[in-house]
Amino acid sequence: MKLLHIDSSALGDNSVSRELTAAIVRQQQSLHPSLQVEYRDLDATPVAHLTGRSLAKADAAETEDAEKVLQQFLDADVVVIGAPMYNFSVPSTLKAWIDRVAVAGRTFRYTENGPEGLAGGKKVIIASTRGGIHTNAPTDFQEPFLRQIFAFFGINEVEFIRAEGIAYSPQHRADAIAQALKSVESLAQAA
Ligand SMILES: Cc1cc2nc3c(=O)[nH]c(=O)nc-3n(C[C@H](O)[C@H](O)[C@H](O)COP(=O)(O)O)c2cc1C
Repeated sequence: MKLLHIDSSALGDNSVSRELTAAIVRQQQSLHPSLQVEYRDLDATPVAHLTGRSLAKADAAETEDAEKVLQQFLDADVVVIGAPMYNFSVPSTLKAWIDRVAVAGRTFRYTENGPEGLAGGKKVIIASTRGGIHTNAPTDFQEPFLRQIFAFFGINEVEFIRAEGIAYSPQHRADAIAQALKSVESLAQAA
């Protein structure tokens, strides 16, 4: 069984989403001791932004990395993603990764009946962190986007572990992290 762990926060050791993805991965490892974990830190080693040169496969190293990113995603049974809210959406490093995973004929295709996901059968667990509070609000372009993209790939099992209101006060931050870590425990029971 394979787990792909993705982080995208730019805040290093101060990152809440990094703390949460690490906790999720630890829980998954305790449930499945033989779990093979692959890790990509999109802040330290970002995927190149998708451009015309990417589509033309003009850069061999970029093309190779893009294929590696896609294959890692396809091979994973569980994908754990740290997704902070940046400017109401996801960090551009995470968007760049998504642009390499969304490949026609590999993760989705169009048919006479409309789009069809090709990457079903895996589970995605997202650590969603936000300075403000956005759940079910029109300001949220992060979680609905992530839900849509993975549904488009045919993935039905998408779980969110949320820590919101991080910027309100140190107490809000501590409470949100504690609550999110509790959710990680119950998520693991159901895995
Ligand atoms: C560049 C940047 C943009 C941000 N934009 C938003 C935003 O639009 N809305 C919000 O509620 N919080 C925003 N925040 C706050 C982060 O969502 C919050 O600090 C969260 O904890 C980030 O996750 P992390 O701790 O894993 O980095 C932003 C933070 C940064 C660094």
